[in-house]
Amino acid sequence: MTPDARGSSATPIVEVHHLVKQFRRSDGAVVNAIDDVSFAMRPGEFVVLLGPSGCGKTTLLRAIAGLETPDSGSIRIGATTGFCAAQGIAVPPEKRRISMVFQSYALWPHMTAFANVAYPLQCRRGSRVSRAELGERVRRALGLVGVGDLERSYPGQMSGGQQQRVALARALVSNDELVLFDEPLSNVDAKVREQLRGELSSMQRELGFSALFVTHDQTEAMELADRIAVLDRGRIVQFATPREIYHRPATRYVATFVGAMNELAGTVSAVDGDDVVVRTPAGRVVGRAGGVAVRPGDEVTTMWRPERGRVRGADAAPGPGDAGPTPPVNRWPADVTATRFVGAHTEYRLRIGDTDARVWHPRGDLAATGPATVSVGADDVIVLPAGQADGPGDPAPAGDRPGGPAGQAAPAMAPAS
Ligand SMILES: Nc1ncnc2c1ncn2[C@@H]1O[C@H](COP(=O)(O)OP(=O)(O)O)[C@@H](O)[C@H]1O
Ligand SMILES: [Mg+2]
Repeated sequence: MTPDARGSSATPIVEVHHLVKQFRRSDGAVVNAIDDVSFAMRPGEFVVLLGPSGCGKTTLLRAIAGLETPDSGSIRIGATTGFCAAQGIAVPPEKRRISMVFQSYALWPHMTAFANVAYPLQCRRGSRVSRAELGERVRRALGLVGVGDLERSYPGQMSGGQQQRVALARALVSNDELVLFDEPLSNVDAKVREQLRGELSSMQRELGFSALFVTHDQTEAMELADRIAVLDRGRIVQFATPREIYHRPATRYVATFVGAMNELAGTVSAVDGDDVVVRTPAGRVVGRAGGVAVRPGDEVTTMWRPERGRVRGADAAPGPGDAGPTPPVNRWPADVTATRFVGAHTEYRLRIGDTDARVWHPRGDLAATGPATVSVGADDVIVLPAGQADGPGDPAPAGDRPGGPAGQAAPAMAPAS
């Protein structure tokens, strides 16, 4: 695939418009699996759909692939319409020129790695390839994903990671401009997952295909994505770069799903340029409005990341090389209730007023518990309206929602409780 073949950069490789897909469950309840989703991705982009189990990731991917028929809306793949409810267009999957990698590998068990990878080239209409070319392309694809020596092996004779590599080769052999990935690394063990992730990332850049990748794993999303679309119950709540998602989450749902957050609720007392001043039970908090503008009197939640805070013994002077947060700075008296060494950093568990908080420090040297001062820069505090903080109609944080992936939503360092 040449850059020219991918069309002008002005034409999105995928453009989804007001897509809706409902399912009727066996108990009669209607599920809005995709609830008015619109987004576009650029050619060559790596987009990750991130969200907890059941939020509609697979349904959206399958709709784009043509494996699911939406109820309304439209899907364009490059310059062609793949689906349009209003015009009655539904191009079958095999004509959409899209490859897909599944969590379950989905290899034919009775076929060798070679035959599995050759399969899409053999059954795709209108693109007959000679035997010689077939062999060359299959071997190139297998070599590319590092399993060239397994071409005569059957899936049953391979490890999970090897099977997924073969599945990846099968997706790449057609040279499609768009490859869809549905949690392809979830079934392989942690070490292999990390390695495959890195390889996938460089392969994507080298070959230049556009990738739409589904995962519930925020670390995976951060590492792979040019942009992340965070999904909440069938809706995209934020579509932005990993950096923006992490530092400027648009809603509390996004903030708590991606990484850990400290929270203090309060009322806006003043807005002065970028500074939003909030009255909280722990005292005055200065932060920056995230996503939505706030006004004095608004009920808000203030949020900051554990690694952005600093802790000092109540009467300790700043240590050498510890510049601390840049001004304006929030400072609160706190009580350190516990410290915990977790390798990459030391975690301080604190009480600020009547609120629990955590601070992570790379060089944890405060061994004792007791009175302390916590500081965090105003640039590192996000102020979100309390009413909209959870996104449309969501009263609970992601990790607390019934059926939500409590263990998956929380980062590795989050407290067990
Ligand atoms: N074939 C189906 N019949 C009924 N409900 C379905 C079907 N497929 C998906 N759903 C429901 O739609 C929602 C989204 O599912 P899915 O797209 O699989 O989510 P995810 O991939 O994010 O885990 C879930 O509530 C799921 O139970
Ligand atoms: Mg799924």
